[in-house]
Order: sequence, then structure tokens, then C-alpha cells
Amino acid sequence: MRNAYISGTGGYVPPRVVTNEDLTNEYGIETSDEWIQQRTGIKERRFAEAGVGSAELGAKAATMALENAGLKATDLDMIIFATLSPEYHFPGSAVFLQEMLGLCDAGKFVGCLDIRNQCSGFLYGLGTATSMVKSGAAEHVLVVGGETHSAALDLSTRGRTVASLFGDGAGAVVVSATDEDRGVRYWKCGADGRFKDALSQRVWDIRNRPFIPQDAEGNGLVDPEIMWAHMDGRKVFKHAVTRMCEAVMEACQTTEVFGPDIDLFLFHQANMRINQYVAKQLFIPEEKLVHNIHKYGNTTAATIPLLMWEAVADGRLKPGMKVMCCAFGSGFTWGASLIEW
Ligand SMILES: CC(C)(COP(=O)(O)OP(=O)(O)OC[C@H]1O[C@@H](n2cnc3c(N)ncnc32)[C@H](O)[C@@H]1OP(=O)(O)O)[C@@H](O)C(=O)NCCC(=O)NCCS
Repeated sequence: MRNAYISGTGGYVPPRVVTNEDLTNEYGIETSDEWIQQRTGIKERRFAEAGVGSAELGAKAATMALENAGLKATDLDMIIFATLSPEYHFPGSAVFLQEMLGLCDAGKFVGCLDIRNQCSGFLYGLGTATSMVKSGAAEHVLVVGGETHSAALDLSTRGRTVASLFGDGAGAVVVSATDEDRGVRYWKCGADGRFKDALSQRVWDIRNRPFIPQDAEGNGLVDPEIMWAHMDGRKVFKHAVTRMCEAVMEACQTTEVFGPDIDLFLFHQANMRINQYVAKQLFIPEEKLVHNIHKYGNTTAATIPLLMWEAVADGRLKPGMKVMCCAFGSGFTWGASLIEW
């Protein structure tokens, strides 16, 4: 039987470390290391330099994933890029990445798909890639989650609730076909559009005429209310724990693979407390959880592929292991996937 498995993983975070103290000392935000760590588990995050975008971060992660898979970029049949911080409104980051990987120069004009599902974007992408590979439509699909949040955070006291949570980075996997009895066993995504405004960065509203208000000279004027991300943190927290518990339980029931047989849980890194709460509800022991939120913050679509890359690199994630992934975020959207590595 044709299966889809993860043949290579890669990750990249920009070198500049911004600690919780730096948010106060460099940006003048009224916050404290204690406040942020207590509520989120975050100690520091990475910020990319001006001029660097999500596709560039993604290209570094993708190059590593291809190398680890023993493949060249020209072996790819499709690129899927999950991000909420694309270079432009359109086109998406996947075509930037395609060019950076040298595919245009090589005359390999593979399909490029952007996924706009925020924190669960990677799992939506993984599911899409799995279905493409299993159906025979593709042999190798690159799935990247990459974010450059730092450029679009209100790094002031006004924006501190959101600005203290997010960081930049990218993770990538190659999903490949195999006849071996392994790979992505299950994926399912969900959404609840009633909460589309609970965590959103509108920037404009296309229903308005003009879609961005203009001054007399025709220059666009964006109100800070919609320019920066808005988040109802408590609502997000409450729905995250409920949906994540449900998604993991449904994955277990459908696959008939239950907690004791699962080796690692790779949960989206939005908040350490969310993941600890979910783990407690589902009786998941601490040693089966992998974290990176303390050093990278919430890297949105990049959190799970970064976890995969690090867990493979440090030997925690080995072939044959069963891995449960789960994410929740803006939309609200969520997803779960069970992988036999
Ligand atoms: C964001 C979150 C940490 C805020 O924690 P909270 O206990 O709900 O805090 P509140 O938003 O109620 O704010 C409490 C106070 O802390 C203040 N505060 C917010 N951010 C702060 C910061 N970085 N430093 C210091 N104080 C801060 C608020 O202004 C508020 O002050 P006030 O009472 O004087 O108005 C929490 O709601 C959360 O983790 N939610 C989930 C968010 C998430 O995971 N988002 C990503 C999903 S993909």
C-alpha cells in the first residue's frame, strides 16, 4: 500500500535573540520577565533583521529538510507554504521560496500553494501533502511553516499582550511516497468561523470602499486598531484547551492508538500553560511532551516542524515511534495528526 511519510526535516531561526528583558530595555515595553514566563513559559524569541522575510527563513529550513531526505529541490512535485506573515498580500510566500530554491532556473515549475491557517497551518499543509502523495498525485511534497512576526508586532506597551508572545522562525518537512508500512496514519482539521475576530490582524477590510481609508492625497491610512493583531487571550486559551483535547481524543479513537502507545506529543507552541493543561486532562506524562516555546516564543505555522526537526536532531524522535501532533489557533482553526515515524 502506498503511504506518505516524512523523509526529511529542517529548521531555521534567525540569530538575533530577544529576551523578555530586551522587550523592556530595547523597546520600552512595560512588562517583566516574570509576567511573561509565568503566563506563557516564554523566556526569549528570535527576531529577523529587516530585509529578511518568511520565504528566506523557509528556504534555509527547506534546504536542510531536502538534504536530510537525500533529495534535491528538483525532486519536488509541489511546495506548500503555511504562513500568516507572507512577504506580500499576494502572491504568497511559496512562489518566493520556489525561486530561492533554484527551481525556476532549473526549469522545474512545480505547483506552489500558500496556506493561510495561522497556528494550525502546518497541520493543514501536512494533511494536504499526505493526501496528494497517497493518491499518487505527487512523490515528494515540501511543506514549510515560516513566520516573520517581528515586523508586524506592535512593540510598545499598547501592544504588549500580543507582542510578548510571538517570534520568527521556519520549519520544513518533505512528505514522500513509500511502500513501507509507516508514515502519516491520520490527519483531521477543524474550524469554527464564529471566532474569526477573536485573534486577527485585519489591516484592511475588503468590504469597505476604499478598502483602506485614504487622505486627501490618496495615501492609505491604517488605524492602529486594525493594523496590529488583536487577541482575546482568555477566549483563545479556553477554546484552545477544549479543541486540542477533543482533536487528540478523536485521533486516538479513530486510529485505535492510545496514550501509552504514543511516544511523543508535538503540540503547537502558543503557551506552555495551554499544553500543560491539555497534557494533564489527557494523562500525558511530561516526558512525552516536546517544547521549544521557552526559546522561540510562538512561531505560529513553524512551531510543529521546528519541534520535529529538533527532536530528530537530538535523537528524541526515531523511526518507528508514534507521534501525535496537535495545533489550535486563529480562525479558530485546529488540527491533529498521528504519524508513525
Ligand atoms: C495572553 C495571555 C498570556 C494573557 O494572560 P491573562 O492572564 O489572560 O491576562 P489579561 O489579558 O487578562 O491581562 C491581565 C493584565 O496584564 C496586562 N498585560 C498584558 N500583557 C502584558 C505583558 N506582556 N506584560 C505585563 N502585563 C501585561 C494587561 O494589560 C492586563 O492589565 P490590566 O488588568 O491592568 O488591564 C493569556 O490570555 C493567554 O495565554 N492566552 C492564550 C493566547 C495564545 O495562546 N495565543 C496564541 C494562540 S495561537
